[in-house]
Amino acid sequence: MNTFIATNVQNIEISGIRKFYNKVAGEKGVVSLTLGQPDFNVPQNIKDAMIEAIQENKTAYTSNAGIEELRREISIYLKEVFNIDYGKEEICLTIGGSEGLLSTFTALINNGDKVLIPTPAYPAYESCVKLLGGTVINYNLKEDFSIDFHNLKCIIAKENPKIIVLSYPCNPTGAVLSKDDRDKLYEIIRNNKDIVVITDEIYSSLTYGEDYFSIAQFKDVIERVVLVSGFSKMFSMTGLRLGYVCAVKGLMDNIMKVHQYNVSCAPSIVQWGAYEGIRSCLEDVEYMKNEFIKRRDFVYKRLINMGFEVNLPKGAFYIFPSIKKFNMRSEEFCERALKEAKVAVVPGSAFGKGGEGYFRISYSYSLEELEEAMNRLEKWVNTL
Ligand SMILES: Cc1ncc(COP(=O)(O)O)c(C=O)c1O
Repeated sequence: MNTFIATNVQNIEISGIRKFYNKVAGEKGVVSLTLGQPDFNVPQNIKDAMIEAIQENKTAYTSNAGIEELRREISIYLKEVFNIDYGKEEICLTIGGSEGLLSTFTALINNGDKVLIPTPAYPAYESCVKLLGGTVINYNLKEDFSIDFHNLKCIIAKENPKIIVLSYPCNPTGAVLSKDDRDKLYEIIRNNKDIVVITDEIYSSLTYGEDYFSIAQFKDVIERVVLVSGFSKMFSMTGLRLGYVCAVKGLMDNIMKVHQYNVSCAPSIVQWGAYEGIRSCLEDVEYMKNEFIKRRDFVYKRLINMGFEVNLPKGAFYIFPSIKKFNMRSEEFCERALKEAKVAVVPGSAFGKGGEGYFRISYSYSLEELEEAMNRLEKWVNTL
């Protein structure tokens, strides 16, 4: 059977997050903190707009790039909120950030091209690159999950990579890009004119500090920056599948070819929903963000009280405590937490080799669930 399967597909596996989630499904009475999915309902105005779009029969294909109305609003939103400049013609609506990532990688990667990916990181980057026959080269993060620039510069000098993936706010660490690090990255990108940046900013609406920093804020490198983002996390609509890619024309024309042959367009109804959302639901986003801050602070405090070494997340809805002092692999730690404490969390190793020695908690669950999980975890950790 396997002889039929393409080698590049044989070389990848289903995500470690899903694998663990599937294990949890077989256990009874477990509190699961495994999924990156907010527990809020989709804002009412978005639901209403989608219902209206159905009633008005807005169910045909849209243009490949998606409806102009929404692309125009995204362009305004990016400028006003993040100081990022992409025109509506430089934006393509995709089926989640996931399709945006794969379409972008497909448009850029030739067999053997080297792609720099942080470790730990969202697992899809590595799998997409392998699927396309590219070569993954990891760059390291420091203890506080910021970029190890010494390591990054050495790798770039030695390997001559074609692409660098940036991923802030970060799944799984909750780190955001600081101004200092953004400026250092800018110097590197400006001086290495053969490198294209793919910056995944799907959690950009969920940062807990004042300012937002992105490599896409620099106009003189923007012709080599592809921004991937979307609405899954922003509007708590993971199942509705809407994301977007931003890139200058030369890049976008080619990303669009892949997107066109793969999916034609993003779902029309959902595009109309997001169009309403971006105009009238930013207060809902603010509400969700404030709820996440409460949850983050609660989980962080409990973990600190349990004696975990852990960084305070500054974005997204994940926290990534160290388990190095327990002398256990992350897989073993999480298996035991599942069996003995009845708490499901994801092993750091699911996020690449840099994730070993950590586990990921998603705090996109209710405070009640988080409290129950923390109580159980505390009782169990005290026995280790
Ligand atoms: C960092 C990151 N990028 C992209 C995605 C994909 O998002 P979507 O559901 O919009 O495809 C996720 C989903 O968890 C993510 O964590």
